Order: sequence, then C-alpha cells, then structure tokens
Amino acid sequence: MAFSDYRTALVTGASGGMGWAIAERLRAKGLVVHALGRNETKLSELATLCGAVPHVIDVSDTEAVTALVEGLEIDVLVNSAGVSRPGSLLQSTAFDIDEQIDVNLRACLHFARLLLPGMMQRDSGHIVNITSMAGLYEFGGHIAYHATKAAMHSVSRQLRIDAFGRRVRVTEISPGRVETDIFATVEKIDPAEAKRKYFEGFEMPQTSDIADAVEYALGTPQYVNIGLIELLPTLQVPGGLRTAKRVGDEVILTGNK
Ligand SMILES: NC(=O)c1ccc[n+]([C@@H]2O[C@H](COP(=O)([O-])OP(=O)(O)OC[C@H]3O[C@@H](n4cnc5c(N)ncnc54)[C@H](OP(=O)(O)O)[C@@H]3O)[C@@H](O)[C@H]2O)c1
Repeated sequence: MAFSDYRTALVTGASGGMGWAIAERLRAKGLVVHALGRNETKLSELATLCGAVPHVIDVSDTEAVTALVEGLEIDVLVNSAGVSRPGSLLQSTAFDIDEQIDVNLRACLHFARLLLPGMMQRDSGHIVNITSMAGLYEFGGHIAYHATKAAMHSVSRQLRIDAFGRRVRVTEISPGRVETDIFATVEKIDPAEAKRKYFEGFEMPQTSDIADAVEYALGTPQYVNIGLIELLPTLQVPGGLRTAKRVGDEVILTGNK
C-alpha cells in the first residue's frame, strides 16, 4: 500500500497557510479532500483552485464536527487548525486560554475519536498532527500554546498505542517558524506588517515545505510509520540558558548568545 491507496482526506485549518498547502497537495495526489475552516471566502477560493470540498465550521463546535463527519470515510486526517496568543499567562484573558485549548487540543482529540475507529476497521489510515516546536521546547511563547502543543505531542504518541495492531499511522509534524499569516492573526496586525516583522530578510520555510513533509510521511510504505518530523528554519535554534542576578531592585539578565 502506498500514498495512492489513500482515497480521502479531511484537513482542518484549510483556509490558512499550512492547511491550504496540504489540502492542495493532497488534491494534486488525487485524494478527495474535505477542507475545513471558518473563512468561507478562502475555502471557496481553495475549492475553485483545486476542487477541495469546502466545509465552513468552527472546529471547537463538537456537535457540528460530529454531524460533519457522520457517514464520511476518511483515510487521512490532518489536524492543522491552530490559534496562538502573544504574551504570557499574566496578560491572558480567559478566552485566550479556552480558545487555544478548544482549537489546538480538544478539537483534535474529537476528530481522532470520531475518525480513528473507521480507520482501524478498514485497517488503513493516517493521522497527521501539525504541532509546533513550542510542544518540545520552552521559549517563552504563550503558556497555553506551549501546553496544547506539548499535549498534542503526547496525543500523537498515545494514538499509536491506541491503534496498535492495526495499520493506522500517526505522524506529528513539529514546525518552527513558517511563513504564514498566523503572526498577523496572533498580533492582530496587517499581514504586510507581520511579513516585515517576522519574515522579511529571514530564510523561512514555506507552506510548501510542510506539504512536502506530509507527502513524505504519507508516501512511505504502509509498514513504515514516520512518527515525528521536526522542521525548523536552519537559522532558528531553540535552547540557551539565561540567569538573572538580583542587585537590590535591579534585575541583571545574563545568557549565551
Ligand atoms: N506558522 C508558523 O510559524 C507555525 C509554527 C509552528 C506551528 N504552527 C501551527 O501550524 C498550524 C497551522 O498554522 P498556520 O501557520 O497555517 O496558521 P494560519 O495561516 O493562521 O491558519 C490557521 C488555521 O486555523 C483555522 N482555525 C483557527 N481557529 C479555528 C476554529 N475555531 N475553527 C475552525 N478553524 C479554525 C483558521 O481558519 P479560519 O481563519 O477560517 O477560522 C486557519 O485556517 C497551527 O496549528 C499552528 O499552531 C504554525
């Protein structure tokens, strides 16, 4: 069995950067692609471009998600929908925390709960979770974002155990910074301004690089499970160590470059 034996896919976040590129790629590989998002205009553009089947839906609405997948036979589930927030817990609203948990974690669990049984019954299927380097490294991003992505790292591993004995594969793709509009959304700024701030002059992975990673994981023989692909810009390195020295009220921060 190879990639070409997968017939159908459901991609969340298909109105956004990575989900869009993945949906387009899976269509190019001949799959029927159910493309999910809330932005109707973007989804119909994608549908016109590549023939994906658009579904306008809030993935945190479990009842709507349950109704949507009813009767669908999905071979490939791609959880790409995600939200993030700037700042730390100290600047958070209750909504900031709830939305990240709802979209980044709770929705992904429900999609897996609803679609995994069919995959196991058919003895074939693939779940791809787009997580983040924030799930593997602490770098001071929003605490709820880190927590949900770390949870999805764990979910990805755990799903392999749940599906044990059946030919269902699970792949986590853990990106660093990728050129999409997510930073404009996060900071509520114009995409052009976000582009200047986060991408101009940097050598950044593109959404096509993420689609390449998905294509690779899906295209390996069925007896191979690509568990985790960490995909970072070469010129982005997590880690480092900072130590603060307190001199009276003054805080002197030291650290490596
Ligand atoms: N770009 C990066 O640097 C980066 C790095 C590491 C990880 N990631 C992760 O990669 C994934 C894709 O991000 P991206 O960069 O492609 O971001 P993006 O362009 O902002 O796309 C985010 C997608 O999530 C969807 N979404 C958000 N809330 C939703 C909800 N309640 N219901 C339905 N859909 C919802 C959006 O759809 P609508 O706008 O239509 O609601 C959009 O399609 C995310 O999980 C993100 O955390 C991104």
